[in-house]
Amino acid sequence: MPTVLVTGANRGLGLEFVRTFADDGWRVHACARNIEKAKAIKSLSGDVNCHRLDVTDGLKVASLARSLAEEPLDLLINNAGAYGPRTGFGETDYEEWASVLQVNTLAPLRLVERFVGVLEQGEGKTVVNISSRMGSIASNSSGGSYIYRSSKAALNMITKGLSVDLGPRGFTVVSFHPGWVQTDMGGESADIPVQESVAGMRKVIAGLTTADNGRFFNFDGEELPW
Ligand SMILES: NC(=O)c1ccc[n+]([C@@H]2O[C@H](COP(=O)([O-])OP(=O)(O)OC[C@H]3O[C@@H](n4cnc5c(N)ncnc54)[C@H](OP(=O)(O)O)[C@@H]3O)[C@@H](O)[C@H]2O)c1
Repeated sequence: MPTVLVTGANRGLGLEFVRTFADDGWRVHACARNIEKAKAIKSLSGDVNCHRLDVTDGLKVASLARSLAEEPLDLLINNAGAYGPRTGFGETDYEEWASVLQVNTLAPLRLVERFVGVLEQGEGKTVVNISSRMGSIASNSSGGSYIYRSSKAALNMITKGLSVDLGPRGFTVVSFHPGWVQTDMGGESADIPVQESVAGMRKVIAGLTTADNGRFFNFDGEELPW
């Protein structure tokens, strides 16, 4: 069976990715920065391997990649994310901005740079970056949320760049908007439950071909403008 690695896997969308891939018989590497908070992962059945990983810790990312170096990886899901302070124009916290960029923007590229070797050994050769419609420059009609929006817009640029650099090596790299989802980040009044979001994204992921390399999808498969 294929192998997937998911970051930010202890709750929300990440946990649902882990649960459903494991149910389907995949080998799953579930990464969480705080193993003590990862009880939900440990209670799952299937081939689920839990790793401590703060995605902003470059040494730990490199060390995990080394420890999994003999194992082909089919799919990397850069899911870990942070919203940061919900501030408007004139209230920007520049230190918080830097830390959100570390999680949402720098870490996904670092993961790909460190895991590209094992991804190349896998058959799937797929990288999924969980972005957001908030990162779409074309869709920004309401302003605000400079920190989160810019971090995801930059992530989208990374998706595009990776698609150009890794496409010739057989990779498919895409960004997803998971919908407005009922998680700690999305809040209780969000549009859809995690199950619907992840089921939708998994359906799209299952149907990806190299022709989709460098595209930005809604969770239901609709293509979104950058
Ligand atoms: N929910 C929505 O409506 C929505 C909409 C658009 C995009 N998204 C994106 O979807 C992804 C998942 O979000 P979610 O809704 O599931 O949010 P969530 O419930 O708040 O979960 C966020 C996850 O990211 C992890 N994380 C944060 N910083 C980390 C770090 N430095 N290292 C490792 N893990 C870290 C968290 O770990 P801890 O438990 O340790 O904090 C948690 O597991 C994010 O990229 C988010 O931006 C969500």
